[in-house]
Amino acid sequence: MEYTFPVTRTTHPKPRPEDETKLGFAKYFTDHMFVMDYDVGQGWHDGRVVPHEPFLIEPACAVLHYAQEMFEGMKAYRTADGRILLFRPDKNIERMKNTNERMCIPELPGDLFLSAVKAVIKEDMDWVPSAPGTALYIRPFIFGNEVSFSVLPAQHYTFMIILSPVGSYYASNDGGLSTSRIYVSDNYIRAARGGTGYAKVGGNYGNAMRASADAMKANCKDVLWLDAAENKYVEEIGTSNAFFRISDEVITAPLTDGTILPGITRRSVIELLKSWGEKVSERKLSIDEITEASKNGTLQEVFASGTAAVISPIGCLHYKGVDYPVADQKVGPVAQKLYDNLYGMQTGALPDVMGWTYQLF
Ligand SMILES: Cc1ncc(COP(=O)(O)O)c(C=O)c1O
Repeated sequence: MEYTFPVTRTTHPKPRPEDETKLGFAKYFTDHMFVMDYDVGQGWHDGRVVPHEPFLIEPACAVLHYAQEMFEGMKAYRTADGRILLFRPDKNIERMKNTNERMCIPELPGDLFLSAVKAVIKEDMDWVPSAPGTALYIRPFIFGNEVSFSVLPAQHYTFMIILSPVGSYYASNDGGLSTSRIYVSDNYIRAARGGTGYAKVGGNYGNAMRASADAMKANCKDVLWLDAAENKYVEEIGTSNAFFRISDEVITAPLTDGTILPGITRRSVIELLKSWGEKVSERKLSIDEITEASKNGTLQEVFASGTAAVISPIGCLHYKGVDYPVADQKVGPVAQKLYDNLYGMQTGALPDVMGWTYQLF
């Protein structure tokens, strides 16, 4: 079922970014946003598209203190013939359901969610950029919005969607790929068994900032997390999943412990590699196996995958004060082929052989 919502148009359209090749990530926001309320006994109600602007929140609002909230991240892509595509939104809906269940946030039906995304993008369609490497980032989020200091699920929630035209998270200025340095955290942890690692919640990221600060100090772009129990096995990167190509095997951490975000790009990378006949393993991989492979020359490629990161090659891992180079530190062939195929399908430049795109307009 498709829902429609009332629209209040902005009377102060924002200046557009002057150069689409210098969008950065979430530096600009579009003219409109979507808002909808939830109340126990009433369900989701009063969905609306309104101007994107600051809104009032009570200082005692529960989310500011106990972080009962969730978010998602998706992109809308403009094709050369002017269509606007989403990438596997059914998978965002599935993940949102799991996150909400973990956080005691009421379920938001998939068709209502997708109608909301469509309604707000319809108003800001001309903000979807078209320069190589760009897209419109979509940030849906829900938070417990009530005055309460009880550590209990809220009775009232607010769902919002905001939009930002972006370049890719780590890409070089020409929209192409370049390699980055990543910091392996050996003292802080991101998520343990039974925690919220598999859910997309702000707490996972707030908790990560101490390690991110250490990464920046070491001149690295992000953190590669090790498992919480033993500090031994690689899990994922701050804002993306991680893949390692050692000899002819592409390896990524398994989702079975519930400590890793089940990335939609991760899943797509695995499915694409399998369709190309590559050897892909979801298995535990120790940091020692990786540093050894770096030393003996079998570490061929490391790359991050994510909606924001797309495919971001990694040229060097910094672990316990030592740099471990990845091959010749250049963009590897598997990462490049994955990027070309994923972004090609997402933007309609290549045929969607996997049936992954969803035409919004
Ligand atoms: C911690 C973390 N892992 C993995 C991902 C990749 O997930 P996806 O491919 O669905 O964007 C993200 C980004 O959203 C993330 O924040």
